[in-house]
Amino acid sequence: MGVFGYIGKKNAVPILIEGIKQLGFQGFDSTGLAVFEEGRLWVAKSTGKLTELENKVNARTFNSTVGIGHTRWATHGRPCDENAHPHIDCRGDFAVVHNGIIENYLELKEWLLAEGHIFRSETDTEVLPHLIEHYYDGDMDTTVRKILQKVEGSYALIALSCKEPDMLVAARKSNSLVVCQGEEGCYLASNFSAIPEHTKNTYVLEDEEIAILTDNGVNFTDFQGEAKDKILYEVNWDASVVEKDGYDHFMLKEIYEQPKALRDTLGGRLTEEKVVLREVALTPEQIASFNKVAIVACGTAYHAGLIGRTLIERWAKIPVEIDIASEFRYRSPLIDEHTLTVVLSQSGETADTLAALREAKRLGARVVAITNVVGSSVSREAHDVIYTWAGPEIAIASTKAYTTQIEAMILLALFLAQAKGTISQEWIREIITELKKLPDKASEIFKQVSKIQQIASSIKDSACTFFVGRGLDWSVAQEGSLKLKETSYIHAEAYAAGELKHGTIALVTECTPIIALATQRDLYDKTLSNVNELKAREAQVIGITFEGNESFGQAVDEVFYLPETINELAPILTVIPLQLLAYYVSLARGNDVDRPRNLVKSVTVE
Ligand code: G6P
Repeated sequence: MGVFGYIGKKNAVPILIEGIKQLGFQGFDSTGLAVFEEGRLWVAKSTGKLTELENKVNARTFNSTVGIGHTRWATHGRPCDENAHPHIDCRGDFAVVHNGIIENYLELKEWLLAEGHIFRSETDTEVLPHLIEHYYDGDMDTTVRKILQKVEGSYALIALSCKEPDMLVAARKSNSLVVCQGEEGCYLASNFSAIPEHTKNTYVLEDEEIAILTDNGVNFTDFQGEAKDKILYEVNWDASVVEKDGYDHFMLKEIYEQPKALRDTLGGRLTEEKVVLREVALTPEQIASFNKVAIVACGTAYHAGLIGRTLIERWAKIPVEIDIASEFRYRSPLIDEHTLTVVLSQSGETADTLAALREAKRLGARVVAITNVVGSSVSREAHDVIYTWAGPEIAIASTKAYTTQIEAMILLALFLAQAKGTISQEWIREIITELKKLPDKASEIFKQVSKIQQIASSIKDSACTFFVGRGLDWSVAQEGSLKLKETSYIHAEAYAAGELKHGTIALVTECTPIIALATQRDLYDKTLSNVNELKAREAQVIGITFEGNESFGQAVDEVFYLPETINELAPILTVIPLQLLAYYVSLARGNDVDRPRNLVKSVTVE
């Protein structure tokens, strides 16, 4: 989750502890550090609170002036001391801290094991120190460049060696890393918040760049070893903003993290023509034996489940039931060994979801969990786990967890369809191609944020709003309305667009903003006629649709155009303007955006 490094004139240990503490504001499950001490590397790790690590290091005195530190949020391997960073090679000569995901680590690990290397953890990161050990040629800089040729995936990494303890080597691809030069030494961190306050001279590492830090300063090269000239920034940020990486609130930061979270969740799970879910140990025969899928979740996770229902039925041709977890047990569900139960939970600790999981297992069902927290109760008790790699979600209103849960549902639906042969190879290939483009398309949406701000100020004083759509748009409407009500406290309801006229339309006046979603091309005309009915009642209609749907754009009062994608993937894009809308309305009303009243992040009581 966060990497940190120091080399200079001062005692490294207190600096590393402080850096880890600052990184820890983003959430972590374990911490660790390594320093060069008395001719060798000294490593300490601990699970849980930072005080555990502090107790370990306080038990002795250090003279070290170089070291690396880490805060972990588990992805590959549960949270425990062995899986905490730094990771070391067989002899303990090289230590590495790493943020990101090494996508080809399984192949690399198999090869290193065959070469006689001994692994101590379940992490993807541990391949890095072993690769360095394997290729070490007396020069850390060239060795790190060499091993990065073998590695696929994303990383911000820092390597320390007892063979060259006068330097730190750091590299970046897709994960942030800054280098700061102070009077007393050089610092490295995955975000600026961890850097001591007086150190403001900052370089930002770009993708495929390497930084070599010594106590004399820092040099930069590209992956080929060519020297790079870097701009020196003088950063002057207020510490509370820095904690949120420059964003005013965690909710906004997490909304903007979605392209990365989406990319990470896909990482290593797609080839050009296939979904690879190594973590779901179901054979095609087992999949063929399921006559039903039961989806269970609460809140936002339930809304992601709604999308999963449509996609599993559409692609894998298995009937799906979906329940709110608190209702599931009490309606005596007809579940048995032929039911595949899918539970979704960001935290993996929601009491009702956990109880539903246990009930499904008691009834003999196979349980697949989709969760964001490695080692959580749900992840431990399910038979199979698909992790969303969204990173810690701190704001109470869930954003990046939702879009990555939908992505995980898409992967699962495709995986089932692939095994059953219910979907053509051509169609799978097209979906995969589009899936890979989604993170960039999500980033595109942020260019239109001023439009959302304008819509937010036009609805901020409303007493009541409706979110409408058909098909998958109706599912997203439910999440959009939850986001608005929980952050802004404005009454918001979601309706299937075709259902409005059976009663609810009586509530619509010119004072009722309606957010109408139209991304399902086969339903464009139907949604348009529902919008026309609303316009006839003088409602203010805000439309969200794909670029090119001009007739819809002209029918509504305000329109927000989304980059085009295929119908089934639309929910991931459609919800982003709705999340931003909730954020800006809440802000305009002066609410506590990250901590709305009466709500908690994880409900661990029934
Ligand atoms: C709480 C949170 C929601 C979340 C729900 C389910 O109500 O405020 O944002 O969607 O719990 O949480 P889970 O961790 O199981 O996804």
